[in-house]
Order: sequence, then structure tokens, then C-alpha cells
Amino acid sequence: KKLAMNLSQLEKGGYPHFMLKEIYEQPKTLLDCIRGRINVEGNNIVLSGVIDNRDKFVRASRIIIVACGTSWHAALIGEYLIEDWCRIPVEVEYASEFRYRNPVIHADDVVIAISQSGETADTLAAVELAKSKGAFIYGICNVIGSSIARATHSGSYIHVGPEIGVASTKAFTGQVTVLSMLALTIAKEKGSIPHKKYEEKVQALKNIPALLTEVLKQSDKIKELSKIFTYAHNFIYLGRGYNYPAALEGALKLKEISYIHAEGYPAAEMKHGPIALIDTEMPVVVIATADRIYEKTISNIQEIKARKGKIIAIVTEGDTVVKDIADVCIEVPKTIEEFEPIVSSIPLQLLAYFIAVNKGRDVDQPRNLAKSVTVE
Ligand code: G6P
Repeated sequence: KKLAMNLSQLEKGGYPHFMLKEIYEQPKTLLDCIRGRINVEGNNIVLSGVIDNRDKFVRASRIIIVACGTSWHAALIGEYLIEDWCRIPVEVEYASEFRYRNPVIHADDVVIAISQSGETADTLAAVELAKSKGAFIYGICNVIGSSIARATHSGSYIHVGPEIGVASTKAFTGQVTVLSMLALTIAKEKGSIPHKKYEEKVQALKNIPALLTEVLKQSDKIKELSKIFTYAHNFIYLGRGYNYPAALEGALKLKEISYIHAEGYPAAEMKHGPIALIDTEMPVVVIATADRIYEKTISNIQEIKARKGKIIAIVTEGDTVVKDIADVCIEVPKTIEEFEPIVSSIPLQLLAYFIAVNKGRDVDQPRNLAKSVTVE
């Protein structure tokens, strides 16, 4: 028994849970994900699956992304990236809805399936359906040789290594990283982004692993402040623009492992319903990093403050404005707006983790959840 204990500790690399280990691995997993896709000069990204099928992507009249769970949140970020840089309309679909909805699929559509495990039954069925309609299917999977990886015409692996914790962490940031590289590759081939801008984005992407190392230094602070909020029965997570999917993902993490009810919302939609929930008991996590939409997010924070909600803000290093309003602030280093969700999702993973630990939950194996849902 002692030997078995030691083996399990060894597998966790000294961390108390796989989830924490996987959160901490992210600077390295993203480096592995990017390395090999960047040229030696470091100014060009080549996602070979995209280059091999260049015309399919460049001529695509539409891209449909199908996924479930956390992978669906990554897909939403993919939508913003591809529309922004490639000017191709994108639709993001829950695989389970898509497959039963008699969707319109054309032969010049590109369908991207995102799945960590590559075994999710609904996503696989969505792939088969789209394939039968003649669309080109591209997979973004983690598990090499998985069913979805095999069923697709081409694809890119995220290369983040085995993810054991049921709640997805490093696979999410890996998926967003691959989607960023995919969008950059298409944008360059299409000429839909000025070269200077393209190079700026490549530089910013290369910096991400180092920024994640910085963010992880906030861990002790997040552990401390998690104690203040463990009492809560409900949480709201808000973000706008690229950080809106990050808010959804933050709420999902908390739900999955702490069993606290949490809702993610686009910050400006709050006034159309969730604002009614806000009282002195309600923690509201707001991603308020310094981007184009920052001023707007500040107004949303003021609306919460006026109703005495407890504000936990994710802000850019050096922020002073939000710091004055929020109850607690977690700083993240500056990156370009498009990569903010990668950086801001780290403190949200840690917050969910520490709250779940405070509540004595089974973090790696939360009740009722499976790592891979291979049945409907
Ligand atoms: C399950 C897992 C989630 C995951 C989802 C989709 O619900 O618990 O963490 O996001 O399936 O899984 P996939 O392997 O397709 O990304």
C-alpha cells in the first residue's frame, strides 16, 4: 500500500492533485505546443495541417467549430480570432445540438472539431455528419490516434501531454494556442492581416509561456483570497470580448470541482437579468484587463459595486482604476488583447482549485463527471 501511495505521489510530481500539476505545467505545455511550429528566426508560424490544405482554408466561405464542454469555450475564442484576423465567418456549435439539428453544411465549409480526448461521442458524431455532407474536417485533439483524430481529414495536435484531472486546464490553453496559430497561418496565406501586425502577434504568442510563469507566482495570493469566498453558494463570472469565453470557462471550472453554482456572462448582458442576483453575499469575478473594452468593463464593475456585490477583479499589472473599486484584485501581465484569455484563465483555474480544496472536494475526480464522455 505504501508503495502504491508513493507511486501516485510520484505521478503527481509532488503536487497534491493532478489538476494543480497540470495548471503549473502550462508554461511548458504551451512552449511544446508552439515549438516546432515556429521557424528558427522566430518570426513565422507554420501549422503544417493548414499549409497542406491551404486552399480549403483560404477559400472557405465559412468555418464551423464543433465541440463540447471546455473545448467549446476554446472554440468561442477561436471564433473571435478567425473572424478578426482571417475575415472568415465562424459559427461555434455544441456538437450535441449540431448533430441533431439538420444543420446547413456546404462542401466549401471547413468544420473544425475540438476535443481533448478525441473520444467525445457527440463531437465524433458531428464530425461524421459533416463529413457525409462533403465538408473538409479539421481536428484539434490532444490524444494522438484518438477516434476524432482518425475521423478527420487533417488536423493539429495540441501536444500538451496527458491530462488526468477531470477538469480541463492545460488542454484549454493548448487549444486556444493552436487556434491562434491556425488563425495566424490562414491570415498570412490569405493576406488578411498586414505583415507587421502578423509579426507582432507571433512575438506576443512566443511570449505567452513566460507570462504564464509570471502569473503562476500569484498562486499564494489566490490561495489566501480563496478562503474569503469559500462560503459562497453562487458566483458570477463576467468578461467582454476575448475575455467573455474566459469568463464562461472560469465559471465552469468552479462548478465542476467545487459544486458551487457559477454562471459566466458577457459583462454587458448582466443588466438583462443576472444583475437581479447581486447582493452583499454575491461574489462577482470580473476580467477587467486593459484592452479596447476596458472602460466599458469598468462601468459594469461600477454597476455591481452600486449593488454591493463582492468584486474579484482580474486586472493588468499596474492597474489603478479597478483596484480602487474592486474588493480584491489579481494582477496578470500585459499581452495583446487576443491572448488575454490564455493569461486570464490561469488565475481562474487557481481560484476554482483552491476553493474546491477548501471545501474538501475530490478535485481530480469530481462527482458525476467523466474525463471523457463516450456515450450520449
Ligand atoms: C467532459 C470533460 C470536460 C471536457 C468535455 C469535452 O465533460 O469532463 O473537461 O471539456 O468532456 O471533452 P473533449 O475530450 O471532447 O474535449
